[in-house]
Amino acid sequence: MKGMSRTHYAGEVTAANIGQTVTVMGWVNKRRYLHNLIFIVVRDRTGIVQVVVDEKRVSAEMYQLAKDSIRGEYVVAVTGLVIGRTPENVNPDMATGEIEIDVQALRVLSESEVPPFQVADEDVAVDTRLKYRYIDLRRPAMQHNMILRHKFSQSIRNYLSEDGFIEIETPILTNSSPEGARDYLVPSRVHPGNFYALPQSPQQLKQLLMISGFDKYFQLSRNFRDEDLRADRQPEFTQIDMERSFVEEDDVHATVEGMMAKAFKDVLDVDIPIPFERITWQDSMERFGSDKPDLRFDMELKDISALVASSDFQVFTQALESGGSVRGINAEGCAAMPRKQIDGLVELARTHKAKGLAWITLAEDGTVKSTISKFFTPEQINELASAFDGKPGDLILLCADKNSIVFNALGAVRNAAAKWRGILDPKEFRFLWITQFPLFEYSEEDDRYYAAHHPFTSPLEEDEHLLESNPSTIRARAYDLVLNGFELGSGSIRIHRRDLQDRMFAALGFTPETAAANFGHFLEALKYGVPPHGGIGLGLDRIVMLMAGEEAIRDVIAFPKVKDASCPMTHAPGPVADTQLKELGIRTE
Ligand code: AMO
Ligand code: AMP
Repeated sequence: MKGMSRTHYAGEVTAANIGQTVTVMGWVNKRRYLHNLIFIVVRDRTGIVQVVVDEKRVSAEMYQLAKDSIRGEYVVAVTGLVIGRTPENVNPDMATGEIEIDVQALRVLSESEVPPFQVADEDVAVDTRLKYRYIDLRRPAMQHNMILRHKFSQSIRNYLSEDGFIEIETPILTNSSPEGARDYLVPSRVHPGNFYALPQSPQQLKQLLMISGFDKYFQLSRNFRDEDLRADRQPEFTQIDMERSFVEEDDVHATVEGMMAKAFKDVLDVDIPIPFERITWQDSMERFGSDKPDLRFDMELKDISALVASSDFQVFTQALESGGSVRGINAEGCAAMPRKQIDGLVELARTHKAKGLAWITLAEDGTVKSTISKFFTPEQINELASAFDGKPGDLILLCADKNSIVFNALGAVRNAAAKWRGILDPKEFRFLWITQFPLFEYSEEDDRYYAAHHPFTSPLEEDEHLLESNPSTIRARAYDLVLNGFELGSGSIRIHRRDLQDRMFAALGFTPETAAANFGHFLEALKYGVPPHGGIGLGLDRIVMLMAGEEAIRDVIAFPKVKDASCPMTHAPGPVADTQLKELGIRTE
């Protein structure tokens, strides 16, 4: 830089600097040529500033440089006098729009080939963006997201530290910990045929830290899960992982609520009311058809089984006879939804295994149309509509099936209807806790129970006696933090008694031998003085995504993976040298 030294960031030169000589360094955002003036907009991570090269005031050599040898994305250093713009030239859209820098010295620090896309271009294909992620990350929106993520992490670290939490790192090379996904494995050179597993979460290790007496632990942990990618799922992600000893559910909730309220204030200057609403899993399913309901709108489910029980419509009565129910929602204001979109809702219900979805439209002009008008009199249809407080303009959607299918189908339809109406404000943050999840999930395919959360989750004390007799009815001391339809985190009060942990493994189909083979060290540790404890793992990427108003977590991760779990930039995963494989004792064909 030959003696030039940066005095200011581009975005921070303001009218207060008029009359001062400043030096900024950054990328050429844009260049314009006007008579004998050349305007160069310089960009860095704080913003942009306009630099003027005036033929009358600089050397011929420097003017020539600005005119012929500077292109977009070149890296430049500029020293000049900050001058006020004339009123007609003030740009109110630019933070630095009241001033410009009158160049005294200009230097090219680095040239750039024509980039594969313009930094300002919003419509670049995702794969191209990710292939050249280092250029994509120059975009102000991406810089904003990464800085927001930093501020959020900083805020929660400070909050938890001040609250007496101790940050402890746990190993990445470890053994498998069951969180329900496939493991990423790392072969051992020293122990041929043996593998480390990358942690799906530090679950057992943080519980062991409680046994060690650390009492309040946290970590921004990196977790690895070999599962299908979705907009809110990456193979590698970050959790705010925490655990506390001598606590009940409310203590863990209070920590998370205080931390979130502080972080939303620090980062977004938004006040979020605490404590958050708490809804049991059962209530949440009945009211919203979902264990991660979006509370920014109503459209709650209603059970109309009693109303249709004596009807002649067999689809409904058969569902009731086989133990199911008939429920529906009032998609308020959706009567004007085009037929194609309503068909889309029916399809959506089908993807959730529903056999169908009936609808009643109550048009603004009073016309009532329904897919089930063949089976019900107009009076009965009106009666059904009024059970949902249907008004002109509303769309009633009904589903008959097994309860679990009715919930899932209507839950999805409810979200889709709100989306169609465009009533979801990304700046409204509606947190809630879902409590008392079922302890087990039964898999018909495998004909066995799985831990709904993980096998270390404690049952409700009053349900403990059902472990052997009726596992599917047991409620867990497990909770999820939910925001605007997203599961932000899951946690639980853990089992801290060896006898109960043994019974839990037995209920999951482990014999004492297989339990010992998989969890021996953990079961051993449970013998040596275990404090009651509980905690939570919060998906940091998802929280930051919602704070940033993004729709995919890749937009808040510097170098994310794409759908097939590869990285378009580094081409990971890639082949390795034969010598490496040999050392590891691995053959690939
Ligand atoms: P769980 O498996 O529910 O719980 O994960 C907790 C939270 O982590 C986030 N998350 C993910 N984020 C991005 N990509 C993924 N593939 C992904 N998977 C999970 C979600 C989720 O709510 N050990 C327990 C926590 C505990 O009991 O303390 C656990 O990992 O936001
Ligand atoms: P069908 O007699 O099967 O053609 O069904 C007639 C109408 O009943 C369909 O157009 C749907 O609107 C509705 N329907 C069918 N199955 C269901 C179901 N499981 N739940 C709610 N409505 C249904």
